[in-house]
Amino acid sequence: MQGQSEKIMNDKGKLMLSMLIVSTVIVVFWEYINSPEGSFLWIYHSKDPIGDGSTQKGWWFPSWFKNRTHNYQGNEEEDIEKGKAKEQRKEDEELQLWDWFNPKKRPEVLTVTEWKAPVVWEGTYNRAVLENYYAKQKITVGLTVFAVGKYLERYLKEFIVSADKFFMVGHKVIFYIMIDDLSRMPLIELGRLRSFKVFEIKPEKRWQDISMMRMKTIGEHILTHIQHEVDYLFCMDVDQVFQDNFGVETLGQLVAQLQAWWYKADPDEFTYERRSESAAYIPFGEGDFYYHAAIFGGTPIQVLNLTQECFKGILQDKKNHIEAEWHDESHLNKYFLHNKPTKILSPEFCWDYHIGLPPDIKAVKISWQQKEYNLVRNNV
Ligand SMILES: *[C@@H]1O[C@H](CO)[C@@H](O)[C@H](O)[C@H]1NC(C)=O
Ligand SMILES: *[C@@H]1O[C@H](CO)[C@@H](O)[C@H](O)[C@H]1NC(C)=O
Repeated sequence: MQGQSEKIMNDKGKLMLSMLIVSTVIVVFWEYINSPEGSFLWIYHSKDPIGDGSTQKGWWFPSWFKNRTHNYQGNEEEDIEKGKAKEQRKEDEELQLWDWFNPKKRPEVLTVTEWKAPVVWEGTYNRAVLENYYAKQKITVGLTVFAVGKYLERYLKEFIVSADKFFMVGHKVIFYIMIDDLSRMPLIELGRLRSFKVFEIKPEKRWQDISMMRMKTIGEHILTHIQHEVDYLFCMDVDQVFQDNFGVETLGQLVAQLQAWWYKADPDEFTYERRSESAAYIPFGEGDFYYHAAIFGGTPIQVLNLTQECFKGILQDKKNHIEAEWHDESHLNKYFLHNKPTKILSPEFCWDYHIGLPPDIKAVKISWQQKEYNLVRNNV
């Protein structure tokens, strides 16, 4: 009798166990097929890493597992949670990388990072597929720009007029314009689907402080309104001008821009902050790319974290009486070292014609303006 009931218990146990396993497998599988990242990651695990996108489902468990974490991190603020839920819904119906991206089209340049993020070069993306996808999503894209002191007269109008023409054509855009004197806001007529909001900011005396305070200001605006108004946000310097379409191929969770002068250099040559006393410190032997602070972006929630973390670093440095060599850009590079961008823009997206025009650069989307430092940096 004793043995009999033990055996029954045993059988019951086995049954329960196998049911548990089966249901776990079903749940995991379901999560997997609904997770773009799972399949995204999987593609890179296949034997032909830069394949044609034909998919075979192997190696999925680890990637699913690793990728659960980032969706549930950091639950300080309700707003952030809401943002994440929205992000999650968007991810659920995300376009697959291979639907629009073909790195083989530019074999002479680096098109995929070590952590499997696309580096978007002219020719690697299929704009029609992307347009079709984002048109259905009815996205709104934000663009912040700061123009203080002489930067306002010198650059702002040209920046906005050119952005109106080339930035996210066919999609809703909100320009967030931060200036130190509302009365000097130039008159600009914007196209359909475009609107702007102008904010007055406190002028800083030094241009270094202007660019560092930018991180704080962007973060505050994301929290108070931008996160409810846009799906993606870019933050750009004003002393540059759009020349060609800067479109939906640039959208992503966390987007970084390769700095034109450094895109071919060895990381040990980069002008990272090399003093260990600074929060922006990156030791030799580390680092992936030199990113340009003139353009960064992502979802509002990702940009919020970026700006908050960079500003923390800036404050810490101030406390320790040290200023990073390239100010907010040094802190940005430190941030991207530990929070890898999910998409990187080739230097074609932000080119300096002073370098010339090497064959790598097929279509310049934004070009640096003449830097008239003597004229504009003297903001006192
Ligand atoms: C998880 O997802 C993020 C983007 O949301 C991606 O950058 C990352 O490479 C994925 N994989 C892992 C293992 O975190
Ligand atoms: C925010 O930044 C910190 C510091 O780099 C990082 O540890 C954290 O994972 C980031 N959070 C999100 C949600 O990206």
